[in-house]
Amino acid sequence: MRTHNLAVIGGDGIGPEVTACALTAMKVAADRFGFELRTTDFDLGSEAYLRTGEALPAVVAEQLRAFDAIVLGAVGDPRVDPGVLERGLIVALRTLFHQSVNIRPVRLYPGVVSPVTAVTADNCDLVILRENTEGIYTGGGVMVKDGTPDAIAIQHSITTVPATSEIVEFGFRMASARRKRLTLCHKKNVLLYTGRLWQEIVDQIAERYPDVEHDYVHADAMCQHLILDPGRFDVVVTPNLFGDIISDLGAVVQGGLGVAASANFNVFGSAPSMYEPVHGSAPDIAGTGRANPTAAVLSAALCLAGLGEREAALTLEAAAASVLAEGGDKAGQQVDTAEVSARIAARVAEIDVPTA
Ligand code: NAD
Ligand code: IPM
Ligand code: MN
Repeated sequence: MRTHNLAVIGGDGIGPEVTACALTAMKVAADRFGFELRTTDFDLGSEAYLRTGEALPAVVAEQLRAFDAIVLGAVGDPRVDPGVLERGLIVALRTLFHQSVNIRPVRLYPGVVSPVTAVTADNCDLVILRENTEGIYTGGGVMVKDGTPDAIAIQHSITTVPATSEIVEFGFRMASARRKRLTLCHKKNVLLYTGRLWQEIVDQIAERYPDVEHDYVHADAMCQHLILDPGRFDVVVTPNLFGDIISDLGAVVQGGLGVAASANFNVFGSAPSMYEPVHGSAPDIAGTGRANPTAAVLSAALCLAGLGEREAALTLEAAAASVLAEGGDKAGQQVDTAEVSARIAARVAEIDVPTA
């Protein structure tokens, strides 16, 4: 029997709650499609950090490397300084495992009512591809005259040809298999060096994809276009920070953070990819049983696709979409976690297997 070894990091807040739902749905799919999922839980996140003083011990990172994929809930806790877990665990894993392409689909499923009025299932189906290891996220920098009124914070931003080319190439390949349009989202009117490099790489790679049209949108203007006219986009490639920001906006456009999925993808397969919802640990609703598990389930579908389980992936997505369709304008918002989870799992077992 085909077997996939999954490392599971539930994490903090609603992370473990939604991850449990995703695993339940995945296991139903595994039974239906005849493969085995072996899961191993990793105790990482705020509790482990507060106990040990380490966000990601080196020995644990090496254990994670051996898995076929990582499923992550979310991390972040008010008791821990901002960045300790976010950088120390999530950004660290993305970098360590060379997960350079962060795939963040923005799709309004039929029946879901977007809080943004002009958006319908017919004009909202795009994918944000966020460079996931560089830009201003690399973490380098220095504080000059720290603690004085003259303090200066210097935060480095790094853009390299290999990482940028990897995501742009991935973007053109994806666009070529979709609606054949790629948009570069940047601020090249202000960030002259990095903007020029991104644009040059897009222009060069575009020559090998004559069937794909490409254009350019500034990141600030993107915030308007995504809301008023998401239909003009197919695949959007963008640096790390802009991708972080516009994907939360994309989440709202598609119904709410409760439905926005993501894959941190290693295009070479040289280390595990990691699948997680776009949302965070949501401490404001943790423990209330109101977290929407759909984003985690749709991320699990991306995970199954990454593992080569195409039919199972499509079925998981269809099951989540079919339950979403019953939620209307509340589909992406807070729900009864246990109830939605049970409905998705039941549907994974019985829904027709999508053909495309
Ligand atoms: P958040 O995404 O956790 O929450 C933002 C808002 O959306 C909250 O009101 C929350 O209740 C709501 N929300 C989020 N997910 C939901 C769901 N599944 N169902 C229903 N409502 C949902 O962002 P935040 O509050 O800015 O951050 C909280 C913590 O999470 C911080 O420590 C932050 O650094 C961290 N964070 C982690 C990740 C990650 O682990 N991948 C991502 C983003 C934020
Ligand atoms: C996300 C989150 C992360 C990011 C944090 C938690 C490191 O906001 O996955 O969108 O900024 O990339
Ligand atoms: Mn984010």
